[in-house]
Amino acid sequence: MRETIKKIGVLTSGGDAPGMNAALRAVARACSYYDVECVGFYRGYQGMIEGDYMKLDARSVKNIIGKGGTILKSARSTEFRTEEGRQKAYESLVKAEVDGLILIGGDGTFNGGVVFGKEHKIPFIGIPGTIDNDIVGTNFTIGYDTALNTVVDAIDKIRDTASSHNRLFFVEVMGRDAGFIALNAGVGAGAEEILIPEEDLGLGRLLESLRKSKARGKSSSIVIVSEGDKIGKNVFELAEYVTQNLPNYEARVSVLGHMQRGGSPSCFDRVLASRFGVKAVESLLDGKTDMMVGIINNEIVLTSIEEAIKTTHDINRELLRISDILSV
Ligand code: F6P
Repeated sequence: MRETIKKIGVLTSGGDAPGMNAALRAVARACSYYDVECVGFYRGYQGMIEGDYMKLDARSVKNIIGKGGTILKSARSTEFRTEEGRQKAYESLVKAEVDGLILIGGDGTFNGGVVFGKEHKIPFIGIPGTIDNDIVGTNFTIGYDTALNTVVDAIDKIRDTASSHNRLFFVEVMGRDAGFIALNAGVGAGAEEILIPEEDLGLGRLLESLRKSKARGKSSSIVIVSEGDKIGKNVFELAEYVTQNLPNYEARVSVLGHMQRGGSPSCFDRVLASRFGVKAVESLLDGKTDMMVGIINNEIVLTSIEEAIKTTHDINRELLRISDILSV
């Protein structure tokens, strides 16, 4: 198969994640090393549909390993969700003479890749890049480690104000469907309570825990709320509900938002992205397709991409128990 892949196309799609540029650099450089041409499509699948791409050679990816965002830009293409859109994308791949694809993104990106791969014969490999860390087949996704550190840093700062004013803070973090950021940043920043989409801990329990915190003489409290938490109230409603029921608390809300997706990638994310990028190119050259690269127990492995999107990567419930013990 090595001889049949002469040009590889790469794209970044879905929410950007720190380390995507490091992955693009690794893909472009590995292509150059193996004497394969490489092109990068702009704005994910939308650029593929429009035939909007740039040539990526070893030099065009210089000095991007430490840059946040993605030089190729990203998008969630609605046109690619239609059969006509995917047909156009295929035609533009044929025109650009691309004979293998590397898709960097999260589950939405991989879902698109699987549908596309069924309709059109083109080998592809996925690289998990999302701050959410919610992909099966890998312990870590690109961007997660950086986002965690950004969140912990932000919460440390919020804690300064919380304890200076004896306040209760509700801090909303990203994760529509996954509580990895909330749970790990919560433990890392010593939050009093962590609310995640995977588990409904109940409003009664939250009130009880905050009551106890006050009784134990805590001067500040931080509740981390994942965007998609199961308790059924948004972070503002939650703060209001708590202060109505516990009037001796002065509460504030802080929504961290998209700052969690930006910034220079951590060393961990740069190394991870570099390993994933090389493995993705080598996998295509070895004739593999419909697979995702991942890291399990520090080994770079391949998982069927259908497997990766079929199930959800479960959180480590042990961390909820640890958080309970440590927020005493
Ligand atoms: O999937 C990454 C993510 O940042 C989620 O945590 C968040 O829910 C979503 O993307 C936000 O998407 P957008 O930037 O399109 O609003």
